[in-house]
This record gives sequence, C-alpha cells and structure tokens, in this order.
Amino acid sequence: MKITLERNPAEQIAAAALIVPVFEGEKESRFGAAPFVASGEVAGKADEFTLLHNPAGAAAERVLLAGGGKAERFDAAGLRKLVAASVRFLKEKNVPSAAVLLEANRTAAEYASAAVEGAILGDFEPDRHKTGNGKKTLESFAVVCPNGAAGLDAAVSRGQVLAESQNFTRALANEPANLLTPLKMAAAAREMSQQQGLECEVLERGNLERLGMGALLGVAQGSAEPPVLIVIRYRPQKAASTAHLGLVGKGVTFDTGGISIKPSEGMEKMKYDMSGGAAMLGAIRAIAQLKPPLAVTAFIPCVENMPGSRAQRPGDIVTTMSGKTVEVLNTDAEGRLILADALAYARRQGCTHLVDAATLTGAIVVALGHIHAGLFSSDDALRDRVLRAARAEGERMWPMPLDEDYKEGLKSAFADIANIGSRWGGAITAAIFLKEFAGDTPWVHLDIAGTAWLDEAKPDMPKGPTGLPVRTLVRLATDWTD
Ligand code: BES
Ligand code: MN
Ligand code: ZN
Repeated sequence: MKITLERNPAEQIAAAALIVPVFEGEKESRFGAAPFVASGEVAGKADEFTLLHNPAGAAAERVLLAGGGKAERFDAAGLRKLVAASVRFLKEKNVPSAAVLLEANRTAAEYASAAVEGAILGDFEPDRHKTGNGKKTLESFAVVCPNGAAGLDAAVSRGQVLAESQNFTRALANEPANLLTPLKMAAAAREMSQQQGLECEVLERGNLERLGMGALLGVAQGSAEPPVLIVIRYRPQKAASTAHLGLVGKGVTFDTGGISIKPSEGMEKMKYDMSGGAAMLGAIRAIAQLKPPLAVTAFIPCVENMPGSRAQRPGDIVTTMSGKTVEVLNTDAEGRLILADALAYARRQGCTHLVDAATLTGAIVVALGHIHAGLFSSDDALRDRVLRAARAEGERMWPMPLDEDYKEGLKSAFADIANIGSRWGGAITAAIFLKEFAGDTPWVHLDIAGTAWLDEAKPDMPKGPTGLPVRTLVRLATDWTD
C-alpha cells in the first residue's frame, strides 16, 4: 500500500474516499452531511458508517462519515480502530483507495502514526489460501493533515513500519502447520533478516544437542519435523545503552498436546501456537528499520508437538541446558519446556533484560479473557517499562502475581521441578516455571494465549491473528533509556 501525507485542505483531496471522523453531539455540516445529522442518521456513535457520494464541495469521490463515539474519550487508539474499521467497510464496497482527515485538534504525531497503522492493519486479509476471489488490498492511503506540524513525516513512516511488521507477524501466525513447519519458520526468518540487514543464525538439532537443550529436544522428539532455535541479532551502529534486550518467543508450529493429547474440537486453532515467536520476528523486523541505539536479540525455539512412537511420555525426565532436571508430567505443557532452554540460552548470550511472549496457557484466557494479555515479571522496573509501552500502543496487558508460594505446586518427587502444578492458577505456575530459567536477569513474561487470536471478526479486524504484542515490543526498544 502506498502511504502519503497530504497537507492540503480537506476540500482539495482527490481520494476515492475521504474518511471524516464524526463525534457524538457534534454537528458535522461539511460535504452535505447536515441533513444526515439533522435526521439522526449520523449520530457519531462508534462503528457507525455513512457513505456519501459526490460530496458537496469536495474533490473526493466519496466521503465516509465514520463515528468515533464521544470526542473527549477519543484517543490515538480510537483513531487506529476507526481507520481500520473504515478501511474494512470501504474494501467491502471495492473502493480502491482512501484518505483520512485529521482535524486541527488531532494532529499530533501519535495520531498520524495511528491513522497509518489503522489503514495497514485494517487491510490485512487472512484468506490468502482462497483461490480466485481473495479480497483485494487497498492501493493507496493518505493522511490528510491541513497545517500539520513538522515531524509528521517521521510519524507516518514509523506507523507504516510498525503496522507492516505487525501484519508480517499475523501472516505467519495464520499459516497452517503443514505449510509452516519449524524449518519453514526458519526460512521465513532468514529471508526477513536478509531483507532488513539483520544477522540470522539457525541452530539445528546437532547444535541443540551439543548445547544440552534436553527440554526443547524432548518436546520435538515426537515429530518428524526437526526442531530449530532461531537467533536474530540487531546491533546498533552506535549503542547509547549497555543494555542488551532479549526477545524470546514460543514457536510451537502445531500443538497436538503430544501423548497428553488435546481434544479434537478446536485443535485446528493450535496452528497459532507459534504466535509469540512470530511476534518476536515482527518486532525485530521493525526494530531493524527504526534503529534504536541498543542491542536486541530475538530467540525463537521452534518445534512441533506431536504424539508418536518416539514422542516424549508423561513421567519422562529431561535435563535442561541450565542443568536443572524436569519431570514432564504433562506433554501438553510444552511451551514452558522449550522456553526454559531458550531463556537460559538468551542469558548465556549476554542479554541483560528478557521479554518473552507465548501462547502459554488456557488458564490465562480463563483469568483475563481475550482483552488483556497476562504480564508476569521478576523486576518492577522492567514491568513498568513494558506496561508503559503497551499503554502507549493501545495493546492491553494486566500484571499478574508471581509470589514464591506458587512454586510449591511445581514440586517433583523425582526431578528438580515438574512441568505442571495443580489446576488452579495455571497461568501463574507456568510463569513460575519460566522464572526458574530466567534466573536473576530482569524478565517479563507475556501470556498471549487469549489475545494473539480473534475468534470472531470485529469491525476493525477479521477473525484470525492479531499480531499482538509487536507494537509494545518495538516501543520498548525505541523508547529505551538506561
Ligand atoms: N498452547 C497451549 C495453551 C493454549 C491453550 C493456547 C488454549 C491457546 C488456547 C499450551 O501448550 C497448553 O497446552 N497448555 C496447557 C497447560 C496444562 C497442560 C498445564 C493448558 O493450558 O491446558
Ligand atoms: Mn500444549
Ligand atoms: Zn502450546
């Protein structure tokens, strides 16, 4: 999609459709809108769309009056959603291009960026495997900002980088597991790295064996698909920080549960069990373009969790790279096993701060539903940084407890630690398990099982992958100060 910034008056914008936000109680009268407002057809409510043809006094072919709700509650996140929903509305009607008008009171950089993000995110289609009638993408999009301040160009291109990277993550998360195996994920990582000038290293089975990553290998052994650990390094030209941020993402390309097999109903969704890994790929893709002055390395352990004659059994004891032994009481608690070795490896590679993202537990969906991701941390300062970044990007996360007391549940009679606890507080015991391997390195764990996938389409988003928390991770890196 071609993205431009226009500084001409709204009346002069010759777009196929000009999106004009309207708010509750505000009487929009431009472009022939007055009678619609008077009749109550346009009330400015959220997700209310009114398409006007040959709008009065405008060069645009159409004006889309897009309801934004109450003006005083409308922020950049609201604009991102409004633009995404508008783009989806217009595409439904085969409108080939669009522009959005930013009013004089909403011209700050964050709005320009959010508008671009909304357009690109709203343009994402999860139907690329449909033959023939797949949805077209929007050709071009303009942010119209009459008398816009300087610096808006940078905001526009930042928004483009963020949203394209988020869509990159969504496309990967959406691929079925027959087409996106661990090796294919490594190939996608290599290709992206080459395009972005990043260093990409793919550790294969032999490397993982030599490193002693028994937990990762144990999960992988039931599948004919070989495991990989993808490592991507971003190094700034001139570092302004001694920090080295490690981004660790769960890359289970399919999770059957293994011998502790899952029920068949809904199992197809488990193709998205590599969403955390895909988010790290998207994040470092954006970081490579935005070039913050700190070192960032992504670590993505990729495996397929399958049952089979070679599969790991409940009761098996594996030795992790850290030396700790784990009793695998449930082979479906595989995410924490592969992350245990990846986190330990990230520390060994010199990361001073760690953030992991994983579709780790059904329990976090019970706790927080599909609105907030669960955030767990061993370090208050890093937790606050991540929460601040999340808030700025409109990605919702909620802090969860991590008291030592929960560790009790992971006691094993035969090994150092078990990979599951009791039924209760399952998202917390999973996080406690990871903490053992993050050690004393400041660490944040994001359980995105409820937020990485949308089960039912919303006005601004189709059913499918959401690409969370790419924007938060990128902002964490670009806002970094020591
Ligand atoms: N990938 C799943 C978690 C999951 C569940 C993600 C539902 C998205 C939706 C994870 O590997 C898993 O199976 N977790 C188990 C852990 C249990 C065996 C302790 C779970 O949540 O049931
Ligand atoms: Mn599982
Ligand atoms: Zn899983």
